[in-house]
Amino acid sequence: MNALMVKGLIFAAILIGATFYVVNSMHIDLSDPINLITMIGAIAIAVLTVGVSIKYINQMKSDTASGELAEEKWDGIGEYKNELPSGWAFSFLGTIIWAFWYWTIGYPVNSFSQIGQWNEEVKAFNKKFENKYKNPDKATLTAMGESIFLVQCAPCHGNTGDGLSGKAHDFVDGRISKKQVLAVIKNGSNQLGYPMGAMPPMMATGKDAEEIATYVAGGLKGKQPAAFGVCAGCHGADGKGMNGMAANIADYDDTLITHVIKNGKHGAIGTMPAFHDRMTPVQIKALSTYIQTLRGE
Ligand code: HEC
Ligand code: HEC
Repeated sequence: MNALMVKGLIFAAILIGATFYVVNSMHIDLSDPINLITMIGAIAIAVLTVGVSIKYINQMKSDTASGELAEEKWDGIGEYKNELPSGWAFSFLGTIIWAFWYWTIGYPVNSFSQIGQWNEEVKAFNKKFENKYKNPDKATLTAMGESIFLVQCAPCHGNTGDGLSGKAHDFVDGRISKKQVLAVIKNGSNQLGYPMGAMPPMMATGKDAEEIATYVAGGLKGKQPAAFGVCAGCHGADGKGMNGMAANIADYDDTLITHVIKNGKHGAIGTMPAFHDRMTPVQIKALSTYIQTLRGE
């Protein structure tokens, strides 16, 4: 076995090892026949690539050129008069003919397309939906919100909106938990897209932070702790977010829920994906209305 062969085998082993590493770290189940076939395919590709490369590298070392030389020389470099390989030439011609067929008869640019038709139908349906729900009443919104919630939100927030024992935000139990408030005080927040922009991490620590968090999680009832003064600067003395400038921390409002649905949220509990272009304004309003009915207070 020559040195090139050894290098090739090492390279193939690295490729296969890396593939196993990725497959393993993605927890792909190799007892599934499709996954297994794909894996065998990947190993075959690695081995073939290395084998073919070795063959040509060896050939390059020993190959000598032959044939009739053309007259011209470029900077002393000559060229053999070789016929175009016929397989290559016919495939080349074939692609040109196929391209003409594709543009004119096969799939002309301006002809019927399923994607175009689908887009048009969705547009028409959305328009009809918008007209139908131009001024929905609260009962309609709540019913619509419930049906969207059960499909889109319940997998994480639970059928009743209870957050599945801490896996997502609990809507039944009140507004926001002490743990969540403490995390926001410590880390700040800059994800929801309020006009005020980011909330920087706050200096409040220890007892001050505890008092503020208890107060906010309790719905801003009872005596306001003195330390809440720093929060009031942005959220207002009533915590209502100064007309949508910052987040309303006193109550769930449409603005907060809309921002969360559009931008997603990453906080003390975990990560919620954004639903930005997957919902119409009426659907967001419906979800917000429904969520506000979930509170068990
Ligand atoms: C400089 C202005 C500013 C100050 C001061 C400030 N906040 Fe905020 N707060 C914001 C903004 C803006 C947001 C929305 C941030 C975003 O887009 O993620 C926010 C978000 C929050 C949220 C998240 C609301 C939710 O339901 O997810 C909580 C909780 C909060 N603030 C609590 C506090 C507390 C408690 C204090 C005082 C210790 C405080 N904030 C001080 C501007 C401020
Ligand atoms: C993949 C799981 C997941 C899905 C799906 C999901 N959420 Fe969330 N949601 C979360 C998590 C986790 C949080 C808590 C984020 C944090 O740590 O503050 C959250 C937080 C929220 C909050 C913010 C509460 C607050 O006071 O800050 C709202 C509002 C919300 N979700 C609404 C929805 C709605 C409406 C839907 C359906 C369209 C939905 N969520 C779908 C996981 C999810």
